[in-house]
Amino acid sequence: MDSVKTQWYKNAIIYQIYPRSFKDSNGDGIGDLRGIIEKLDYIKSLGVNAVWLSPCYKSPNADNGYDISDYRDIMEDFGTMKDWKEMISGMHERGIRLIMDLVVNHTSDEHYWFKESRKSKDNPYRDYYIWRKGRGKNGKKPPNNWTSRFGGSAWKYDKTTGEWYMHLWAEKQPDLNWDNPKVREEVQNLVKFWLDLGVDGFRCDVITYISKVVNPDGTIPDGKYRVGIRGDEMFTHGPHIHEYLHELYEKVLSKYDCMTVGEAANVTLKEALLYTGEGREELDTVFMFEHMETDMFMQVIPKKFNLKKFKAVQTRWQEGLFGKAWNSLYYENHDQVRSLGRFTGKVGDKGKEAAKMLAVSYQLLQGTPYVYQGQELGMPNYKFTKIEEMRDQLALNIWNMVKFIPFMKPIFLKIMNGRSRDQGRLPMCWDASEYAGFSTVEPWLMVHPIHTEINVEAEEKDEDSVLNFYRQLIALRKGVYANTIKNGRYKEHYPKRKDIYVFERSFKGETILVICNFKNKEAKFKVPESISPENHQLILSNYKGERPLADMTLKPYEALVYSIKQ
Ligand code: GLC
Ligand code: CA
Repeated sequence: MDSVKTQWYKNAIIYQIYPRSFKDSNGDGIGDLRGIIEKLDYIKSLGVNAVWLSPCYKSPNADNGYDISDYRDIMEDFGTMKDWKEMISGMHERGIRLIMDLVVNHTSDEHYWFKESRKSKDNPYRDYYIWRKGRGKNGKKPPNNWTSRFGGSAWKYDKTTGEWYMHLWAEKQPDLNWDNPKVREEVQNLVKFWLDLGVDGFRCDVITYISKVVNPDGTIPDGKYRVGIRGDEMFTHGPHIHEYLHELYEKVLSKYDCMTVGEAANVTLKEALLYTGEGREELDTVFMFEHMETDMFMQVIPKKFNLKKFKAVQTRWQEGLFGKAWNSLYYENHDQVRSLGRFTGKVGDKGKEAAKMLAVSYQLLQGTPYVYQGQELGMPNYKFTKIEEMRDQLALNIWNMVKFIPFMKPIFLKIMNGRSRDQGRLPMCWDASEYAGFSTVEPWLMVHPIHTEINVEAEEKDEDSVLNFYRQLIALRKGVYANTIKNGRYKEHYPKRKDIYVFERSFKGETILVICNFKNKEAKFKVPESISPENHQLILSNYKGERPLADMTLKPYEALVYSIKQ
């Protein structure tokens, strides 16, 4: 192992901030860096020791900052480089590391490189992007059948040179050509730029898409014909991906005590080991998606959550990476709907208990846990009733494609309430005031009406709140049980049960037993035969009172954590 690498991320708990929705400091309805600075003590009070900040770079905001027009500057809405420097020092003073988003599969079409690139076929930046001649008569058909994640073809015709450029995301997000060594060098330099400014790591946006299949004659082949997204198999884990990531590691990342987490859609366990296996020198960790898809049909349409499948995924990853690589643990982020409700079914008046149970069910697994802003309050999803309330471009694009179909609106709203990326992006609720203490004016995206009940101020005062439970749980990960939680071998009990999730983590004579009831009704629990309950202690639970470890009836959404000395 490289000597500068301390693998600090193995002891980290990471809080994700979506800057647009976190805290507005100057009354324009948009969250900003000074808003984050105001809340640093709050972040510290959670006990987390790192922050992942979604993009804050200069951007025309076609995809809320995931379309970058200058990698070395800050978005005007968010502040200045001076604010950013103050923010990172404030974090470091508090023992909080900063992980920035690294969005290098694509840039904005307003990035200097692209503006140059589209000018002429012999421009020095031409080859920074993926340009091809069209098919058909006069080249008026896209070069192949790949589709964009935002709907429609993945190619856009550009009349200046009469060629097409690839965009796997929005039209305003042209894909970079990683096969060009100059592009890779640019990325290495910008990564180095931020590391030299003190950044502690990167969350690498859609990193598994950077290498695309190209034929020897330069054309790019069609993807398999399929309804929905086409071309996946040609650009996910593409032909040179491991080479390019290793190069970035070798040239830059290896020289800093930094961490990387790759966003890895469609990653299987086998591939994850190639990206993150100890000694591979590519990425430190990845975000996998399998557990997030256990409530979806074809990765798109929401369907009933299936706990048995969900547990099987978690178990496969816990066992599969053990001793070989490191897991990332998460239920929420800025692309997902809230986990409460999603993984629990209707919670009724048991929202608090359910949110706490969910926290226990993933944070005690092996890996680095992430908490997404508002998750620590037990924020539920919102029921959108109007298209006008929505802001997410992805959802709005889909709406524009289907709005002509009769009776589509209620169906669309129903699907989007279970899928829309706006769910997690509703402003953070700080207090019960009109705009939830997020802003003094009407924010860019509506405030969840539940903010009058669920907000930081109210939860600070309530000893029994979800917020204070998160603090306890995070403290637990760092206290006397830290070694077992970090290193313990995972074993699942009762994998076939559809109501409860039971697992243990064992390390050097200590076992931590975790029992979670995912249902809003009682469930029978029997102490697993392999566990001898002498010498046990209840170390965390979401209901008050003693709960000796024995065969018992679990309460709705009950979560129990025991330490057993063996
Ligand atoms: C990732 C981001 C998402 C963004 C996309 C394109 O999936 O998390 O928010 O739209 O990449 O950059
Ligand atoms: Ca602002």
